[in-house]
Amino acid sequence: MIRVLLSSLVALTCTVCSAEEVPLTALDLTHMKQAWGKPQLNKSVEENPLTIAGRKFDTGVGTHAASRLMVELDGKAEMFQAWVGLDSGARETGSVEFEVYTDGNRIFESGVMRKDTPAKQVNVALSGVKELILKVSDGGDGRNYDHADWAEAKIVTAGARPVAFSVPEEEKYILTPPAGPAPRINAPTVYGARPGNPFLYRIPATGDRPMQFKADSLPDGLSLESATGIITGITPAKGEYELTLHASNSSGKTSKTFTIKSGDTLSLTPYMGWNTWYTYYMHITDKRIRDAADAMVSSGMADYGYDYIGIDDCWMRKPGSDDPMLGGEPRDASGNILPNKHFPNMNALTDYIHSKGMKAGIYTSPGPLTCQSYTGSFEHETQDARQFADWGFDLLKYDWCSYGKKVAGPNPSLEEMIKPFQIMGDALKVQKRDIIYNLCQYGMGNVWEWGADVHAQSWRTAGDLGYELDQIITIARRNVEHRAWNGPGRWNDPDYLQIGTIGDIKTFKKGEAALIPSPLTPTEQYSFMSLWCLMASPLVYSGDITHMDDFTLNILCNHEVIEVNQDPLGQCAAIADLGDDSYLLVKQMADGSKAIGLCNGGESTATLKAEWSAVGIQGKHIVRDVWRHKDIGTFEGSYQAEVPRHGVSFLRLRKAK
Ligand code: GAL
Repeated sequence: MIRVLLSSLVALTCTVCSAEEVPLTALDLTHMKQAWGKPQLNKSVEENPLTIAGRKFDTGVGTHAASRLMVELDGKAEMFQAWVGLDSGARETGSVEFEVYTDGNRIFESGVMRKDTPAKQVNVALSGVKELILKVSDGGDGRNYDHADWAEAKIVTAGARPVAFSVPEEEKYILTPPAGPAPRINAPTVYGARPGNPFLYRIPATGDRPMQFKADSLPDGLSLESATGIITGITPAKGEYELTLHASNSSGKTSKTFTIKSGDTLSLTPYMGWNTWYTYYMHITDKRIRDAADAMVSSGMADYGYDYIGIDDCWMRKPGSDDPMLGGEPRDASGNILPNKHFPNMNALTDYIHSKGMKAGIYTSPGPLTCQSYTGSFEHETQDARQFADWGFDLLKYDWCSYGKKVAGPNPSLEEMIKPFQIMGDALKVQKRDIIYNLCQYGMGNVWEWGADVHAQSWRTAGDLGYELDQIITIARRNVEHRAWNGPGRWNDPDYLQIGTIGDIKTFKKGEAALIPSPLTPTEQYSFMSLWCLMASPLVYSGDITHMDDFTLNILCNHEVIEVNQDPLGQCAAIADLGDDSYLLVKQMADGSKAIGLCNGGESTATLKAEWSAVGIQGKHIVRDVWRHKDIGTFEGSYQAEVPRHGVSFLRLRKAK
């Protein structure tokens, strides 16, 4: 109310002071960032007349959540005015939320607006303001159909013309200290495998090669190759086997205890690896998978514990395709699924991956077709599970895709949602291989509540991350809501890590995806990794593994950072709000210490404070910067840090002696 009164006052004053009205359409909107399409002048994002709940507007800007425009002012602007809402051209499922920030403070919030929400008026006083930010977020349910209108939007100013600008380019910076020449074993403390199944584990260790590996108390049936550190054989009978792993080279030696838990639970710590999707999309070949396995080892990622090489969609045949490499009968006369011609020999491919101590992942859908319309497993589930095991795969991603449209219908009951995942889970469980089972159905039916019951080790908690990367802090907040279901052998999966170089999601349907630098700022890329570690999420890189620069490797390969992810308690951090856009994450570690993140989702640098009461500790604690491997000092009661826009200050707190 006060704000509205103030605004009217400013408007009145303006009639006297010859203020100019600058429509939003007059600014350089190439600076408007949005998750889909382009900003449209006087039209909706789909180029229809701007319409909110049936009311038409002649002028304004049509955009798509997540959207952001930053505008520089000179302190002499007086007001920002607009009518906002979801464009009527969007489908029923669209929802948006408008926000206006002045100099880092959020002073307008529309609340979630849907198709029937009438246009809301924005009247924001700007006197003295130097920076205006117009933001639209997705209303908390992903970005689909989030067509957002800033109708009749204008800035009233008596000063200089407002100037739209983009976030200043941030130089890449490296925080991770380089690994030393002496051996360091980076394995987690526990590893789960099923009795009687083939065992494969490459001891991840940094340090100069050649390196010699040894293991004390290696159970019968397992053997270790001393030059590579690869353990193979058959998993021993149910029980816990405590080993001591040793690594030595010309610069020194080291040891670490490592417990093999032979039993029913796989993935006792979040699995780590790489997946084809966000780099190659449909354009995958046997060679690209082999190159990825080579790169996993040669880049050093394998020395930090990354070991699954995942083939995503599009390795099968594509019914109806006239591409000779993809077409042809989808299955042989006995109903066995056939790979397309880019994959001449699946057994040879997995043998190659396994020879490096790495593991192989594959993908299919319970529907007749996958999401890219390749052959799915419908009515061949058991046969396909057997085939994947025979081919030597170690992980299956099972993606809902056409199952909804073709089998379950548009509004499946919970039972119908669970059914296909149960069928495949049961089929995988009886294979004589340890196959990690990753459900991909975007969080439907609260999958975190029943994923483990269908024998899955992880489940995607939401839709694809590809479209709203700069919302990483908000996305993580949603994933944390399901923390109670996260733990050893059961992981919430918020999707893959997209840092470094990735395939451009905007171009992938038109052929080979263009490779682009991740649209995230360097700080946001650090935040991505920090959040995934604090949430104990699977660490699956999906950028271009064959061309990683030092910056990308420094994010993926930091042993203190990964140690938080791989902690055997498997806890996803708890969350405490620190303000409108910022929060504190607190992860209990098995050694009694806490890993915390001060997370700033806001648009400018903020001072964020972790109170000991919120962290759940008392007395003096040593605060350590996990990225830099440096103790910052000893603190009591609280610790505060300046956290940059979209940054996470990632720390470990240990009780001082
Ligand atoms: C989506 C899935 C992505 C990717 C894609 C392949 O449904 O969420 O992660 O697998 O299908 O078509």
